[in-house]
Parts: sequence; C-alpha cells; structure tokens
Amino acid sequence: MDARALKIEAARAALEHVTDGMRLGIGTGSTAEEFVRLLAEKVAAGMKIIGVPTSERTAALCRELGVQLSTLDETPELDLTIDGADEVDAQLTLVKGGGGALLREKIVAAASKKMIVIADQSKMVETLGKFPLPIEVNKFGLKATELAIAAVAEKLGLSGPLTLRMTNGAPFVTDGGHFIVDASFGRIPDPRALSNGLHAVPGVVEHGLFLGLAQAAVIAGADGIRTVRA
Ligand code: 5RP
Repeated sequence: MDARALKIEAARAALEHVTDGMRLGIGTGSTAEEFVRLLAEKVAAGMKIIGVPTSERTAALCRELGVQLSTLDETPELDLTIDGADEVDAQLTLVKGGGGALLREKIVAAASKKMIVIADQSKMVETLGKFPLPIEVNKFGLKATELAIAAVAEKLGLSGPLTLRMTNGAPFVTDGGHFIVDASFGRIPDPRALSNGLHAVPGVVEHGLFLGLAQAAVIAGADGIRTVRA
C-alpha cells in the first residue's frame, strides 16, 4: 500500500468515531485532507456535523466539499478533533506543525473533549525529535527569540540549527500572522521540559509539542489498522 492509501485507511477508521450531531475539530495536512474527503461523503449522505477547521487551507477544502463550518468563537466546545501529526510516540505526545497550523491545531484540540490522531506507521517513533520541531514565533525580534530558544535548548542539553521556514523565497507566514522556526534538536528525551522552557520565551507564540492532548492514535500500516491509546 502506498503512503496515500495508508492515510486514507487511517482517516476511514477514525471516521467511525464521528457521530451525527458532533461538533468536530478538523485538522490540517495531507492526512487530515483525506479525512475531510471521506467526511464530505458522509455529509452528502445525510450526516449532520458542525466542523471547526484548524487552518484556512482546511476551511477552503471543507467549503469546496460542502462540509458545514463554524468558528471556535461560535462553537467554543467541541466533541472531537481529528488531526494528523508529524511524529507520535507511545505516550501519544506529538510533534505537529509541519503544515504550519500548529497554533490553531493546538487551540482547537484543547477545546475538544477528545483528540484522535490519524497517521501512517512512519509517524510512530520511540523518541520524538527526528522531525524538526516547528516553533511559531512573533515576527518582532526574531533574532532575539532565536537566541532565547537556543539558550533554552542548551540548558536541556539540546542543540541544532534553527531554520526560519521559507516559502517562495519569503518567510512562511502562519494563519495567525507569525513566522515558524524549525528546530533540528534531534532526540527530545524530555518533551515536557522543552515545552515549559519554550513557553517561557516571550517571542514564542506556541510550539509543536502536543502533550496530553491526544487520547488515541489510529495508525495505518501494511498489516492493517491499530489504535494506540494514551
Ligand atoms: C499541520 C500538521 C499536520 O497534521 C502534520 O504536518 C502532518 O501532516 P501530513 O498528514 O501531511 O503528514 O501538524 O500543521
């Protein structure tokens, strides 16, 4: 099975957790987009849900496919969020933000009673950190914020390049109007300590470590679907 087929299988399995009338957080990325396509088929067949998208990109796809949307301001409490991830460990700590939507993804996940991650097997890791950690930062004082991030990392015995994410020759700008710095620290043995340290840096808006937010991960591999629970 190719990577896309695995994403579709994970999305299909997660869709079984969606029931009529749900207020649903809808993630961002290629796996989440497969979920939106399958969800749209259910909606076309009569299922009623209200979706809260985690990015403008997801919102556009939902609109195109006829999935009814709300905002988190109109619908501040959600039943379930379904979203992809860049890395998932056995405790369901995640690295997210490869698609640049980590801030809204985290706000939406935190507003949900439950979060289910959908991913193919390649996203499961023993220790987080092979995928560079996306850190959303305020545009103001970028260099000072990068120095502060490096200092936080050094205290924890971590080091590695901080790369400003670019697109079409210009810095990538998130839906919230911020930059993203991708931190290649390598293994992150203590995600909680790094999370706390990064949150203490004033220029850091949010980071892509998701701790204690996901209750389950639906993982698709060549040998089928398995569900990892926290
Ligand atoms: C976007 C994300 C995505 O969920 C993550 O990057 C996984 O994307 P994909 O399903 O395309 O591999 O966090 O900010």
